[in-house]
Amino acid sequence: LNKLAEPFEVLPNDNPASDAKRQELTDKPAFGQVFSDNMTHMSWTKGEGWSDRRVEPYAPLKLDPGASVLHYAQECFEGLKAYHHDDGSVWLFRPDANANRFRNSAKRLYLPELPVDDFLGSVAALVKRDAAWVPTRREYTLYMRPFLFASEPFLGVRAPEEVDYCVIASPSGPYFPGGVKPVNIWVEDTWFRTGPGGTGFAKCGGNYAASLVGEYRGIENDCEQVCFVDAATKTYLEELGGMNMFAVHKDGHLETPSLTGNILPGVTRNSIIQLAQDEGRDVVETMIKLQDLLDDIKSGEVTEVFACGTAAIITPIGHFKSEKFDVTVGDGGSGEYTVATRNKLLGIQLGEIEDPHDWMWKV
Ligand code: COI
Repeated sequence: LNKLAEPFEVLPNDNPASDAKRQELTDKPAFGQVFSDNMTHMSWTKGEGWSDRRVEPYAPLKLDPGASVLHYAQECFEGLKAYHHDDGSVWLFRPDANANRFRNSAKRLYLPELPVDDFLGSVAALVKRDAAWVPTRREYTLYMRPFLFASEPFLGVRAPEEVDYCVIASPSGPYFPGGVKPVNIWVEDTWFRTGPGGTGFAKCGGNYAASLVGEYRGIENDCEQVCFVDAATKTYLEELGGMNMFAVHKDGHLETPSLTGNILPGVTRNSIIQLAQDEGRDVVETMIKLQDLLDDIKSGEVTEVFACGTAAIITPIGHFKSEKFDVTVGDGGSGEYTVATRNKLLGIQLGEIEDPHDWMWKV
């Protein structure tokens, strides 16, 4: 992994957390609440391109109040995890997929595309520097958050001429605490995450900001996540506030919303499709009508539904709720296939079972 990258200069850190403090913070962290000692940082200007590859102490950024990102949300990000293996080594899961998606997100927002090698190198440099921050407890990881933003102070709406790229690292547990405990999903049909030709496929902050009205309507109704339908027809399921979704049919085949451009092409989603195909299962990527899914759940045609994403891993869905319905998936518990697939994916990520597609990259 490191052979690919330009070297990152490692700057001194005079104020790292004490061993005792770091051990406390990495023992059983919640998702995304604490951060490691250092961060990676690169700068880009229209004239010079990418420069200043550095690993520096984690600290608040100096940002001009006129920076375009604060006004027009020219920002995109990624999420991937560093896993501790029993032999003490540290690994990343498919970081090349994140690097490529990051380029596509940047393109959509008219931000400069970060070369794949710089993405990989920046993540690896930080993982190496803060290797002691990778939690060792099962299902706990160092969640890496690369992000790119328009830092140029300028209020005209145009492509920025100055951009910053950073990676921060957060020792984290799964997004939904409680392992395979099923979550409830609020089906939102008033507010939408994105629309045709929008930014749905890009991993940009605006999509997540736009999900919050629906997310909080869900929270008021005892749901952990919101599920969006397509804005054009209010008919087809798209994705959850921050993760993709699969339905398991009684004959064993899987269905998942197709990548219409409104949906984030999840790395976990793609990996689940591959693992299912390896087992000889059919996977249908299609436009799924909300009403059909609800009917199929009620009739027993669909036996399990689960959410998936880097942060969420694989999480069973217990109920779909709205103002008009409350539909229980199966018996409301964790389905057999969901649990088995979660174990298989985690097994690969933790180096416990064979990695047939060479998804793991040693740092
Ligand atoms: C991830 O799964 O990595 C994400 O970026 C989703 C976010 C809701 C945490």
